[in-house]
Amino acid sequence: MICFNEQMQSFFLHSRSSTYVMKVIENGQLLHLYWGDRIPECDLSYIHLFYNRSFSPVLYDASELCYSLDTLSAEYPAFGYGDYHTPAFTIQAPNGSRICDLRYTGHMITPGKPDIQGLPHLRADENEADTLALFLRDDLLDLEVTLFYTVFKDLDVISRYAVIKNRSSQELSLLQAASCCLEFDHSDFQLIDLHGSHCRERQAERTPLHHGIHSIESRRGASSHQLSPFAAFARPDTGEQHGEVYGISLIYSGNFRISAEVDQFDRLRVQAGINPFNFRWTLGSGDSFTTPEAIMVRSTAGLNGMSQNFHALYRQHLSPSRYTKAPRPIVINSWEASYFDFDEEKLKALIASCEGLGIDTFVLDDGWFGHRDNDTSSLGDWAVNTKKLPHGLSGIIETCKRHHMEFGLWFEPEMVSPDSDLYRRHPDWCIHAPGRIPSQSRNQLVLDLSRQEVQDFMAEAVSSILREYDIRYVKWDMNRNITDLGSEGLPADRQAELSHRYILGLYAVLERLTTAFPHVLFEGCSGGGGRFDFGMLYYMPQTWTSDNSDAVDRLKIQYGTSYLFPPAAMAAHVSACPNHQTGRMTPFETRGNVALGFCFGYELNPLHLSPEETEAIKRQTARYKEFEPLMLEGRFYRLCSPFQGNECCWQQVSSDGSLSIVLYARVLATCNPPVPRIQLAGLLPNALYRIDELDLILPGEVLMNVGFSIPWLWGDFSTMLFTLRKYEGLPEKQTQKE
Ligand code: DGJ
Repeated sequence: MICFNEQMQSFFLHSRSSTYVMKVIENGQLLHLYWGDRIPECDLSYIHLFYNRSFSPVLYDASELCYSLDTLSAEYPAFGYGDYHTPAFTIQAPNGSRICDLRYTGHMITPGKPDIQGLPHLRADENEADTLALFLRDDLLDLEVTLFYTVFKDLDVISRYAVIKNRSSQELSLLQAASCCLEFDHSDFQLIDLHGSHCRERQAERTPLHHGIHSIESRRGASSHQLSPFAAFARPDTGEQHGEVYGISLIYSGNFRISAEVDQFDRLRVQAGINPFNFRWTLGSGDSFTTPEAIMVRSTAGLNGMSQNFHALYRQHLSPSRYTKAPRPIVINSWEASYFDFDEEKLKALIASCEGLGIDTFVLDDGWFGHRDNDTSSLGDWAVNTKKLPHGLSGIIETCKRHHMEFGLWFEPEMVSPDSDLYRRHPDWCIHAPGRIPSQSRNQLVLDLSRQEVQDFMAEAVSSILREYDIRYVKWDMNRNITDLGSEGLPADRQAELSHRYILGLYAVLERLTTAFPHVLFEGCSGGGGRFDFGMLYYMPQTWTSDNSDAVDRLKIQYGTSYLFPPAAMAAHVSACPNHQTGRMTPFETRGNVALGFCFGYELNPLHLSPEETEAIKRQTARYKEFEPLMLEGRFYRLCSPFQGNECCWQQVSSDGSLSIVLYARVLATCNPPVPRIQLAGLLPNALYRIDELDLILPGEVLMNVGFSIPWLWGDFSTMLFTLRKYEGLPEKQTQKE
């Protein structure tokens, strides 16, 4: 997968169908030459033609007269010698100089993939991946930069990160360090990003690239609802099923930046990594800094091809959790059923009403601890409120057992309420700027996870509850972003390390908890999908996709999220109507159809349902169980985008192609509409499939090329879920049922 051609001084990284080429030139600089369709090994330096260009400074030791970093593609560019684009990293020497000149000193190719200490990362053994470590060095600074590249055998993925080590005896300051830098010698791409807000996460947006810098970033201390750590660069004619696209993401949950810079020669530089805004890291003598890992995907099979590479990484190479590939519980969550307004009797009645519905886990959401009757108090005081629950959690857990259900619990461990014993004991434990009154958001402050004692407290607070009770599921929430950056645990010259140290502290706690309690399924949540990223998914294989449970809005949210994450990472629940976020009335069937195929559950009180709805729950949970393998191991295809019109369609196919489900949704009804026809994807071309709902049997290649027509739908917010099963009988003459 990775080879170094001595004669050409070139590295060739071959993934399933792509090749990535770098070359060490005479003066030791490392250039990027190519990332595209698979090619044989060949010296690609002929592509550089050296013109004398005004205002493009020539490097002091270049063999070519017109050799300028202003016009060449550096692999990990530094600032100072004529490259005027955004540098990949910037380091400051004690004398104030920010110039750096990295030259190649050697490399190492090893099978498999090393772990990255302290950061979530992809994992692969020697049969699955090879890793290249490329050593670069600045002699004057006595600085070593190692670039790591892992190539995954069966995927079109290269993952990258950098380790920056100060070998000098002096202190250096790292001002910026990207995880990856990518150069393209053209910018004939459109940019796809996932923007949004609370309750409107991951809306897909496709825009042309312009000269200058376009930046996708978060400064909120979390990967954010507003922009996900993701960018795709698609050729203008690339669609869901065809065309070339490059997708970038990060295994990181904090402030990030992905930038796309189009220069004077229409070339594109893409970089991804920790956001340099408000970042500075002191590297003492001998210290090193490791960037988060970046994921780079290339696909010529369109946006679905790109997504399936990301999805396969999630399934095979990310989370060590035993739940990643294991069946997930069908939960009923208490939040929208009762909010803060519950006591033991109410919860027991709720649990009892689930008997026989096929729901297997009851999750007690916010409000069970301290004196938390609303969102103004008690975060940090993780002791059961015995006024509400006189038998502690045991009374509830016993009731769950009696009704054949497991028990799950909500925590928001990273936060503290000003009205809490914890805050009264340790006011200095929250993030705050000295002498300033910290800003509150949802009446709460953020604990300073850069401090070891705070990490210890937090890990112990959660552990003691998990030790005491039989808890199988934890919903880990985080309901505000960080402001008032300041830590009493850090000296003045290290305050700009706080945002990253917070994330490192969080990862350290999650590592402790997930190692100590491997039987617990952790679900990530940040007011829904405010921290839905590969970093959190390493510890918690699923995320509450959005606080918005409205089935119509969920079409866009789940469709957009699928660019990056598979259905097995997305929790989707059926909730009550009128919907609590939008006030919309949607059919119960639509709510089920939109959530089926994802980590399924309910966000309502069965006691308030009609007998028909209760019966519908039984059908939905049975269908979910049948289709669960498609979610865990199958492939997901986006077929028709809700961002482009009134319809939405997606499809899931089992790993062996024998079973598939197709969701079709029409948002608003129109009178006398055209008949929609859907062409499917991912089926076995020569196999026959029976579509249960249409009583239709057709070959896979016909369903993928001709498609099938959607029967008449009545009313707004209508959906149909189609089931396709591989059919072993003889083909029959077909007529489509209406
Ligand atoms: C925000 C979450 O996203 C909700 O599901 C719920 O858990 C509330 N927090 C509880 O405060």
